[in-house]
Amino acid sequence: MASLKALILGTLGLAPEVLGANLLASHYTGKIFSLSYTPGARNATATLSSKFDTSGCGTLPAWLHIDSGVPIVYCVDEDWNGSGMLSSYSVGPDGSLKQTGQTVTSGASVHGTPYGGGDVDGYNFIATVQYDPSTLTTYELPLTSSSAVLQQLKFNLTEPKTNPRQNAPHPHAAQLDPTGKFIIVPDLGADLIRIFSIDSATGNLTACEPGVAGEGDGPRHGAWWAPTEGSTAGQKLYTVNELGNSVSAWTATYPEGGCLTLEKTQTLSSYAEGSVAPNGSKAAEVHVSGNFLYAANRADETFGAENDSLATYAIDPSSGDIEWVEATPAHAWFPRTFSINKAGDLVAVGGQTSSNVVIIARDTKTGKLGDVVANLKVATPGTPQQEDGLSAVVWVE
Ligand SMILES: *[C@@H]1O[C@H](CO)[C@@H](O)[C@H](O)[C@H]1NC(C)=O
Ligand SMILES: *[C@@H]1O[C@H](CO)[C@@H](O)[C@H](O)[C@H]1NC(C)=O
Ligand SMILES: *[C@@H]1O[C@H](CO)[C@@H](O)[C@H](O)[C@H]1NC(C)=O
Ligand SMILES: *[C@@H]1O[C@H](CO)[C@@H](O)[C@H](O)[C@H]1NC(C)=O
Ligand SMILES: *[C@@H]1O[C@H](CO)[C@@H](O)[C@H](O)[C@H]1NC(C)=O
Ligand SMILES: *[C@@H]1O[C@H](CO)[C@@H](O)[C@H](O)[C@H]1NC(C)=O
Repeated sequence: MASLKALILGTLGLAPEVLGANLLASHYTGKIFSLSYTPGARNATATLSSKFDTSGCGTLPAWLHIDSGVPIVYCVDEDWNGSGMLSSYSVGPDGSLKQTGQTVTSGASVHGTPYGGGDVDGYNFIATVQYDPSTLTTYELPLTSSSAVLQQLKFNLTEPKTNPRQNAPHPHAAQLDPTGKFIIVPDLGADLIRIFSIDSATGNLTACEPGVAGEGDGPRHGAWWAPTEGSTAGQKLYTVNELGNSVSAWTATYPEGGCLTLEKTQTLSSYAEGSVAPNGSKAAEVHVSGNFLYAANRADETFGAENDSLATYAIDPSSGDIEWVEATPAHAWFPRTFSINKAGDLVAVGGQTSSNVVIIARDTKTGKLGDVVANLKVATPGTPQQEDGLSAVVWVE
């Protein structure tokens, strides 16, 4: 495929970068948009355009999961009226989507990940989390109209909490660990990073001892980092805390034959020293690229009206400790998600309320976020603090 592409480009006399890349953006109006990014050749401006839109992920597509090099995307539906969709699509070279599977769920899903070794794009199962119902639900792949729930774990709070948003466990993500043997579930309501070991033959998940977050942190999503790619020596997890407006660093260990363990080592604000999180702001997303960590703040308007901030931290290459670097403009309002490309030189930010995808340049050496290279409004804008607007953006690579 790659060599064919190179051959065609060579014949046309085009450099590969002229071709650009595809992105997918899910929107709470029920659609997934296929976007096309073309870098500017010889100082021309880059372009970002919407080429296709696809439905089939229910009324509130909330999250997209796609792995690098795998042309399959999974989509979960947040519809909270008792019924939702869980869907898979294949992604064509032009970014178009073709539905490959769909199953009806009880809805309220906010995140999910495929897992377990298998022939279906390397996975045999998918785990999803439901925010209000406090559940983790798994299904066998491929998804079909007759897919049944494989396992459903319901979480309970052992002690009542003071923050009204922590009235119950609120699992916010299901993410694979770097070994593919464990799933972590940051639980915003319970201040826990739940850990499950995977039986890869059956897909059965068994609870391990969770990582304990700070009181009131409200962890939402995580990102992994290790000093050496492919090795879990020195493995760290960084989580973003929606309620605490902070990020936490965790040491991950893999005892022989046992469960993954997580121990919190640091918690740093998602705002510069001397700044506090404005009322109504909530940290949303976290990603690692190289030895840098990034977090998105929603509704802080640090850079003016409808202009929220992204926080950059440097990761110490030997210890994995993090240090505040700076806040930079998100060029978006309510950046619920962002996605860093594989090369590490472009960051796509999905503004939920502003309903835009903005591409920001990233310096791979210094980790600094720079100028806007392209910006596109997608579908209809959202309303502040509501479940509408643009829900997620991912690069397809
Ligand atoms: C691109 O722009 C820079 C300055 O903005 C200029 O120095 C350079 O010559 C331009 N390159 C081309 C190929 O036009
Ligand atoms: C849920 O049902 C209510 C009342 O029928 C409706 O107004 C709302 O749009 C529905 N929400 C979703 C996400 O379907
Ligand atoms: C949580 O509560 C539900 C309903 O009360 C119960 O079915 C379930 O077993 C409990 N889960 C745990 C992990 O205790
Ligand atoms: C699946 O995991 C649950 C705990 O999550 C356990 O109670 C059950 O025995 C397991 N089932 C199988 C078939 O291993
Ligand atoms: C914070 O915002 C909420 C709603 O957005 C409002 O109800 C509350 O009064 C505000 N609190 C303060 C201290 O301004
Ligand atoms: C956000 O703030 C930056 C820095 O002040 C500014 O350059 C940019 O135009 C702003 N973007 C929006 C969408 O307001």
